[in-house]
Amino acid sequence: MPRRDDWDPEHLPDLEGRRYLITGSNKGLGFFAALQLAGAGAHVVMTGRNPNRLAAARAAVLRQVTDATPATVETLLLDTSNLGSVRAAAATARGRRGLDGLLLNAGIVHPPKTR
Ligand SMILES: NC(=O)c1ccc[n+]([C@@H]2O[C@H](COP(=O)([O-])OP(=O)(O)OC[C@H]3O[C@@H](n4cnc5c(N)ncnc54)[C@H](OP(=O)(O)O)[C@@H]3O)[C@@H](O)[C@H]2O)c1
Repeated sequence: MPRRDDWDPEHLPDLEGRRYLITGSNKGLGFFAALQLAGAGAHVVMTGRNPNRLAAARAAVLRQVTDATPATVETLLLDTSNLGSVRAAAATARGRRGLDGLLLNAGIVHPPKTR
């Protein structure tokens, strides 16, 4: 591991062989976390609630991380406001290889005034 004073978030240590799942990864902090992790060689499970936005985000990661293979970045539908969706995604994730990290990022900063 790098020493604390060597820490540079734009140059993560080699994460080959590590697996991370990120909720709300089609934009914002979740998307950029996916980009950084994939860029460092990690396997990333990008999750999101909209299949089209999720596919576009995965394609954007693969375009920008030129040495990532399509197998390195997978997607999984997960709407955190729907417990059925959470259970289904958890069951799918459980059936795959273990995870080294879980980024519970999905959420909103400014809730709509109507709810
Ligand atoms: N940015 C800040 O200054 C800040 C400060 C403090 C905390 N945070 C927290 O950090 C996290 C990310 O913030 P951000 O600025 O990157 O927000 P963002 O750009 O609005 O991105 C939010 C992400 O969460 C997803 N999401 C929202 N509700 C979801 C749901 N029910 N199920 C699945 N995905 C859902 C969005 O997907 P869709 O595209 O489908 O909506 C999007 O991918 C949030 O939890 C936020 O509360 C942010």
